[in-house]
Amino acid sequence: MVERRRCLSGMRPTGPLHLGHLVGALENWRKLQAEYDCFFMVADYHALMSEYEHPERLRTWSYENVTDWLASGIDPSRSVIFRQSDVPEHVELFTILAIMTPLGWVERVPTYKEQLRELSGRELSTYGFLGYPILQAADILLYQAHVVPVGEDQLPHLELAREIVRRFHHLYRTQIFPEPEALLTPAPRLAGLDGRKMSKSYGNTINLSETPEAIRRLAQQMFTDPKRIKMTDPGHPQTCNVCGYWKVFAPERAATVWEECRTARRGCVQNKQELAEVLVQLTEPYRQARPVLQGGASAASGQERYAKIERVLQEGAAKARAVAQRTIADVKRAVGIAS
Ligand code: TRP
Repeated sequence: MVERRRCLSGMRPTGPLHLGHLVGALENWRKLQAEYDCFFMVADYHALMSEYEHPERLRTWSYENVTDWLASGIDPSRSVIFRQSDVPEHVELFTILAIMTPLGWVERVPTYKEQLRELSGRELSTYGFLGYPILQAADILLYQAHVVPVGEDQLPHLELAREIVRRFHHLYRTQIFPEPEALLTPAPRLAGLDGRKMSKSYGNTINLSETPEAIRRLAQQMFTDPKRIKMTDPGHPQTCNVCGYWKVFAPERAATVWEECRTARRGCVQNKQELAEVLVQLTEPYRQARPVLQGGASAASGQERYAKIERVLQEGAAKARAVAQRTIADVKRAVGIAS
């Protein structure tokens, strides 16, 4: 069989996954499984870098997030699903790369100063946080990944990873790593309920595990075309968030919905109600994966689900480690450290 190219991506387990993660990452990851050997990683060390003051929920968010990965069709028999901290080689490679990365390169990464500003409630002026993109480079290089599906905000990190590869090869006269390429997610970034980017920190999300009642309530809160005051006013679907959602989540019906909005045959309330039903249906697998949320089931079944996910992660870690150990042996040899 022909060796397939490798793909690696990761997510930080800092909270529940929402529709933005679905269209921005999970849908794309699921499709990539057909074409690449995929590694999907719970980036818990990366999460710890911003959450170290209150890390209590990292472990359960990891289980909750992987529950959603599996429900969306990320398949542990086709892809390696693992947790970063289960593969200590990430930390080893991080150390080696940190040693040879000029300080100016990381200080210049634009996301660094942005994050310091955005997460201003936290003490992020730490030595480790500055190294965030170096750890990310280690994640990618450890699996000699060719492609890395990410959102636009991560492009500077990919660029740094590529620079590190070139420097490593130049310093040690070797060719261990492919230069990783970013695979930009085809979907545009999803707007939240209020029209800004959907994000936990804005409190404008619809989570994948939401109950149907909650989805209906949240859909009613969505911003619509601000110029449409009365139902008889013609709407402007291109500037309406609800109409935007139709395009993303039910493209086959969007043309009709848009036309009815434009000609004032469809009011905003009806539009939200019908969209809510589309979203309820779409999120069904994520509720199914959590019978405990549907009431009745005992809390123990949450524990059982976590135990099952833990087994998936352990199997993934074994496969990931086999690859990681080979790479780290080559790296140590290249830099003159015994292995
Ligand atoms: N920094 C990424 C994010 O916040 C998460 C991440 C960690 C990642 N390691 C990675 C993404 C390796 C791609 C490849 O979205």
